[in-house]
Amino acid sequence: MANNAPDLPPVADDDTGVMGLTQVDPSPVEETPLEYKEGYFPPAQAARATTLGLGNHGPAYYLTRIQKYSSYAFTVFAAFHITNTSLVPLLTRSVPEANRYLLLTRPYYQSALAEPLLVALPLAAHIASGIALRFYRRRQALKRYGAETHTDRKTIPWPSLSGTSALGYALVPLAGFHVWTTRILPPYMHGDNSMISLSYISHGFALHPLVSFGGFVALVGVGTWHFVWGWARWLGYAPSQASPTESRRHLTKKRRWYAINGVSLALTGLWLAGSLGIVGRGGKTGGWIGREFDELYNAMVRW
Ligand code: HEM
Repeated sequence: MANNAPDLPPVADDDTGVMGLTQVDPSPVEETPLEYKEGYFPPAQAARATTLGLGNHGPAYYLTRIQKYSSYAFTVFAAFHITNTSLVPLLTRSVPEANRYLLLTRPYYQSALAEPLLVALPLAAHIASGIALRFYRRRQALKRYGAETHTDRKTIPWPSLSGTSALGYALVPLAGFHVWTTRILPPYMHGDNSMISLSYISHGFALHPLVSFGGFVALVGVGTWHFVWGWARWLGYAPSQASPTESRRHLTKKRRWYAINGVSLALTGLWLAGSLGIVGRGGKTGGWIGREFDELYNAMVRW
C-alpha cells in the first residue's frame, strides 16, 4: 500500500522508522540533561527523629521490642526460680535444707519493688504486646487486601500462630494456676506468704500425686520449651531465621530444630529432676504448718 494513502495518518518527518518511532542520537554521557540538573536520583530522605529521639517506626516495631525486652526481665526471675526449686534441692538432696536457700533469696524477688518490676509488669507487657501485634497485623492484612464486607474479612486469614506463640498461650493458664496457689491464695487465707516453701509443694504431691505430677510436668515442660524457642528467636537462631541465600538452608533449619528441642529437653529434665525427684518426694509436713497446708489444699479442691 502506498505511504500517503488517504486513510492513513500523515507521516510527521523523514526520520520516522518502520514502526512509527523516531530515531534520535544518543545523549553524551558527560552532558547531564537540563531537566536533571538538580541531580539524577531523587534526594535521599534525611533520617527523621522524633522529639524523644525514638526514630520514625511503626507500631509493629515498638510492640515487638516491648515483647522482647519484657521477656528479659522474666528470664532473670526464671533463673532464680530454677536455682531455688531444682538446682539447690538437687545439690542438697534435702527439702528442709533447700528451703533455707529459698527463704534467703525470696526477699529479693518478692520485695515490693522487685516482684512487680521483674515478674508482674513484664509479663503483662509481654502478653499484651503479643496480642496487640496480632490485631495490628490483622488490620494491616485487611487494609492490604482491601477487605470491605464481612465476607471479605472472613476469607482473609488471621496472622498464623507460631509454635512458640501457641506454647505461650498454653502457659498462661498453667502459670496462672501456679501463681494463684502459691502467691494469691495463701496470703488471702492467712494474711501473708511466709509459711509457703518447698515443703508446701511436697505436701501437695503427697496429698494429690497425680494432679501435682501432671501439673508440674506440663508447667515446666511448656514453660521451658516456650523460653528456649523464644530465646532462639531473639538471638536469630530459630529455623525460620536461617538465611534464605544459604546453599544448605534445609540442613541448617533441621540442625537448628534439633538443637533447640535438645536444649529444651535437657533443661526440662534438669528442672523436673529437682522438682519431682527431690521436692515431689519430700512427703507431708507435720504439726500446725502441716494443718495449714491441709487447709489450703482443701480450699483449692472446694473452689
Ligand atoms: C524467658 C522468658 C520468655 C521469653 C524469652 C519469651 C519469648 C517469646 C517470644 C519470642 C514470643 C513470640 C513468638 C512468636 O511470635 O512466634 C512470645 C510470645 C508469647 N509469650 Fe513469651 N516469652 C517468655 C515468657 C513468657 C511467659 C512466662 C508467658 C506466660 C505466662 C509468656 C506468654 C506468651 C504469649 C501468650 C505469647 C503469644 C503472643 C502472640 O504471639 O500472640 N511468655 N514469647
